[in-house]
Amino acid sequence: MQTEILGPDPISLRKAANLLLAGEVVAIPTETVYGLAAHGLKAQAVQKIFSAKGRPSTDPLILHLPTPDLKAALAAGIVAEPIPEVAYQLTSAFWPGPLTMILPKGPKVPLEVTSGLPSVAVRYPAHPVAQKLLSIADVPLAAPSANRFGRISPTDAKAVSEELGGRIPVILDGGSCQTGVESTVLSLFKQEPVILRPGKITAEQLGRILGKNPKILSTKSKLDQSMPSPGMLESHYAPATPLYLVDQPITHFPTGIQYIHYASNDKQLPPNRQVLTPIGDPETAAQNLYRVLRKADAQSGHAILIEPIPDSDFAPALRDRLQRASTGTAYWDGQVWKLTQWQVI
Ligand code: TXA
Ligand code: MG
Repeated sequence: MQTEILGPDPISLRKAANLLLAGEVVAIPTETVYGLAAHGLKAQAVQKIFSAKGRPSTDPLILHLPTPDLKAALAAGIVAEPIPEVAYQLTSAFWPGPLTMILPKGPKVPLEVTSGLPSVAVRYPAHPVAQKLLSIADVPLAAPSANRFGRISPTDAKAVSEELGGRIPVILDGGSCQTGVESTVLSLFKQEPVILRPGKITAEQLGRILGKNPKILSTKSKLDQSMPSPGMLESHYAPATPLYLVDQPITHFPTGIQYIHYASNDKQLPPNRQVLTPIGDPETAAQNLYRVLRKADAQSGHAILIEPIPDSDFAPALRDRLQRASTGTAYWDGQVWKLTQWQVI
């Protein structure tokens, strides 16, 4: 299959919407990462997402709503009662934006979207191209990140093309993603609010509306409880080259390894050293994270080493993604890097 990359002009948007309404998949930009979209109320369309990505059907998808109006989603059978009042307050505070809420599933949503769960994930993205497309199609779009299963999420059209080129008909190019890591996933379903995946919208921000900061279900607990090995994590955002977390700034650079610094404004670094943020701000680090991992992965090297992420509002999200992407830790023993794999539990 030939993959066409379309700009976000009105004719291309209409073409993308028509493809989606006809049951095809289209890669679309959002403010977080690119998504692989399909008509969210058509089981056969949704199945195409799983086959293009090579994703197991046990991993539920997020529905991107045609408008930020949760009452309209309720009336359309996308979500169902009981919807806590606080869900409406959260949409006013954070939509459009990178907050996904887990709510009771409405009767119109096929079980393929939710992997058989009685709950559904919904969000309204902040990217203008995604909003225009949703408004033209006027149906919810199921869209996981537009990478092959387990790989690094794409944050520009070129990265989508590397991941899914030849497997999907169209990529809608809306430029580079602003946020750079996936949305915060907050469950409001049958329990105290809990963050299932940290993102740009923090526990503290959510706590101001919820009255109490929600707990973040940590990557560590997920690793311990249910995963035979981190490589088996349902979404492990991993490069093909093994990634190791280093517990201090990297000062030794033997060849054959790729190094990722958190912050450096050194413009003369050799190609085996990348930087997440020249000025040391977490927003830029998040924006660049997947692009830099992808670049390090494309260079030759038997390992990628990355420096620790300093504390900030964005740190839980960045550390979560890196932990899931990594094979283990590394330390300098005075002569060589010692690479230590996570223990398989
Ligand atoms: O930023 C994002 O959220 C991106 C863009 C494209 O919108 N999408 C994305 O989708 O990251 P995906 O499929 O890669 O991640 C969806 C996450 C998964 O961790 C999934 O397990 C969780 O949401 N999820 C979806 N439905 C759920 C449900 N009913 N209950 C619990 N978790 C759910
Ligand atoms: Mg994903």
